[in-house]
Amino acid sequence: MELIYLECSPRKRLSVSIRLAQEFLASSRRKVPDLKVDTIDLWSLRLPDFNEYYLDAKYKIIRGKPHSEEEATAWSEVVAMTDQLKRADGYVVSLPMWNWSIPYKLKHYIDLICQPGLTWGYSRRRGHFGLLEDKPTAILLSSGSVYSRDGSDDSEAASETMPEFVKPYLRHVLGMMGLRNLHFVHAAGSDYPPEHAQPAFEQAKEEARALGETLWCHTQTS
Ligand SMILES: Cc1cc2nc3c(=O)[nH]c(=O)nc-3n(C[C@H](O)[C@H](O)[C@H](O)COP(=O)(O)O)c2cc1C
Repeated sequence: MELIYLECSPRKRLSVSIRLAQEFLASSRRKVPDLKVDTIDLWSLRLPDFNEYYLDAKYKIIRGKPHSEEEATAWSEVVAMTDQLKRADGYVVSLPMWNWSIPYKLKHYIDLICQPGLTWGYSRRRGHFGLLEDKPTAILLSSGSVYSRDGSDDSEAASETMPEFVKPYLRHVLGMMGLRNLHFVHAAGSDYPPEHAQPAFEQAKEEARALGETLWCHTQTS
């Protein structure tokens, strides 16, 4: 069984979200001994700029027009990236919240892979539909503050009333590509004083561990 793990924090050793992912992957490995994890570290990978050739290639696909040589080269890189995704049995994403949303490296990656005919389709009758198979996806998120508006946290520390755009955005964009079997673990309030941050982190670690134990059961037997 093969997973793709997208790592989106540059903090590495000190990263809260990466430590959650490590917990999740360790318990997944205990459950699935032959687990292969293909890590895509978005901070060491040089993603291609989404320049005019990528854009024109995308518009030409939508309009059913042939690609120029440069566009075909750009498109073949996108096809290689989406093929890599399609081969996996499941996905793991660890990320910090940045400015109420996702880090720009992850947005860059999504802009490259969210492509007509590869990860989504459109018809007048159906509207948008996903082309990725709905494989289990674990999302390990950390944020400095606590967000209560989506009802996910009712702790005393949940004093913030700000909205956050990580979960709604990922649900929408991944859902549009066909991934709806999403499982979030959120270590919220990591930048609060330790008396708030530490218990929240321990609880998120526990949730990550439990998720790793259960998430792949169905995938293995099916
Ligand atoms: C550039 C930047 C922007 C951030 N923006 C937010 C934010 O909007 N909301 C929030 O709760 N925390 C924010 N934080 C705090 C991080 O989400 C928090 O420290 C998180 O635990 C870091 O995860 P990591 O250790 O995996 O990188 C921000 C941190 C950085 C570096």
